[in-house]
Amino acid sequence: MSKNSISNSVIRRLPRYHRFLGDLEANGYVRISSRELAEKMGLTASQIRQDFNCFGEFGQQGYGYNVKELRGEIGKILGLDVSTPMILLGAGNLGKAIAAHIDFRNRGFELIGIFDANPAVVGGKIGELTVKSVDELEEFCKANRPEAAILCIPKGEAEKEADRLISYGVRAFWNFTHYDLRISHKDVAVENVHLGDSLTTLSYALSGISGKEKEDKE
Ligand code: NAI
Repeated sequence: MSKNSISNSVIRRLPRYHRFLGDLEANGYVRISSRELAEKMGLTASQIRQDFNCFGEFGQQGYGYNVKELRGEIGKILGLDVSTPMILLGAGNLGKAIAAHIDFRNRGFELIGIFDANPAVVGGKIGELTVKSVDELEEFCKANRPEAAILCIPKGEAEKEADRLISYGVRAFWNFTHYDLRISHKDVAVENVHLGDSLTTLSYALSGISGKEKEDKE
């Protein structure tokens, strides 16, 4: 089955499979059955079999999945077998935390440059990288060809900077600004991230639990 024909909901589950299989590999697992993996991940075995059937013949009846092979295949689908050069715009509170704490290499990216508009921030060090001025962005992109960018800048700057970066060859955005980037180029990928949405989902889950507790008491 081609990559494009895998449904979006399966694709959304792949990073989690990849992470779990990585932990299993690190703990010495060579094979795992769909039932055992399902128990560990809080899913059903049939869900796991259905998901993995989307991209090939991995399991053997009664023999389970080869953890390393399966993780490698999921990694390929997720594009983790390549290292895409990436830059970050906005070395403020969030940008610094992301640059310092995300394991880019294990996720198919390499952070090669950090840029900020504030001269007081430019020149500071984050890990091994020195924050550069946005004035150097065009020249840097011409020389280093970053294909992806992280946006940790104010909302009002997002569209303008995204357009500029596209003109410099960037074709993927990990966008943290609360501006929902909707880029019309079909060959530009966008992942809008809202931590607040995740918190709201937690609130919804909690209200379900609280409602159930109330019902149980009644
Ligand atoms: P901050 O004010 O600490 O950092 C923003 C940085 O961007 C500053 O250093 C500023 O000089 C720089 N900047 C401004 N315009 C720029 C440009 N055109 N090019 C390069 N650098 C530029 O803000 P903070 O707290 O780090 O937040 C950054 C963004 O992320 C904000 O838009 C904020 O609303 C958003 N945010 C989003 C979250 C999410 O879940 N998506 C969570 C937290 C913040």
